[in-house]
Amino acid sequence: MSACNTLAFIGILVLASYVAHATDPTQLQDFCVGINDPNGAVFVNGLFCKNPLEAKPEDFFFEGLNIPGSTINRVGANVTLVSAAQLPGLNTLGISIARIDFAPFGGLNPPHFHPRATEILTVIEGTLYVGFVTSNMPNDGNKFFERLLKPGDVFVFPQGLIHFQLNVGKTPAVAFAALSSQNPGVTTIANAVFGAKPPISVDVLSKAFQLDPVVVKHLQSLFWMSP
Ligand SMILES: *[C@@H]1O[C@H](CO)[C@@H](O)[C@H](O)[C@H]1NC(C)=O
Repeated sequence: MSACNTLAFIGILVLASYVAHATDPTQLQDFCVGINDPNGAVFVNGLFCKNPLEAKPEDFFFEGLNIPGSTINRVGANVTLVSAAQLPGLNTLGISIARIDFAPFGGLNPPHFHPRATEILTVIEGTLYVGFVTSNMPNDGNKFFERLLKPGDVFVFPQGLIHFQLNVGKTPAVAFAALSSQNPGVTTIANAVFGAKPPISVDVLSKAFQLDPVVVKHLQSLFWMSP
């Protein structure tokens, strides 16, 4: 390649990378409905910023993540999330943290995904069986990745993929998760599908899940909670 061609080639690469980065801004909430009348609009995606001169150490501080959440509920788990809503200093920083407690013998953080974050999980106590499923792959369907975790083990759940954690031990389990958004969001699959309000049409769900409409109606009548 001549020097001139090489330069042109580098130029094209630089241009291509510039174009690739000229994307829309990352969402910081589920939606931000467009509005034509500027008088009724809020020009922000996330939270307003405090005057930096008025920021205090407390704005960057949260306490209590040493306290277990109660796991006396239907799934036997409890997620204590520290996002920008709980720790205002996280606004715009693209990170948050959660403590997850699991009851012995089957406490479950049920299948869910985070629309805006990858999650990296560290087990502190107990034994967790965890897994995630890929999006639809061209020839391979949905690939499942699973693993048994002990204290000190770290596992990553890529952004937007369905994942879960189950306590398979005889003792309570505790894990901490870091998430790559100030507001990761969570969609619990069963709740979103069978607990949507108003309910999704029985025709849609019975066909999609290959279930008798009676079973769909039963599932829709149940109480769906997320930990
Ligand atoms: C999680 O634990 C907290 C603190 O014990 C409790 O207030 C909350 O109701 C629990 N959430 C669930 C879903 O059980």
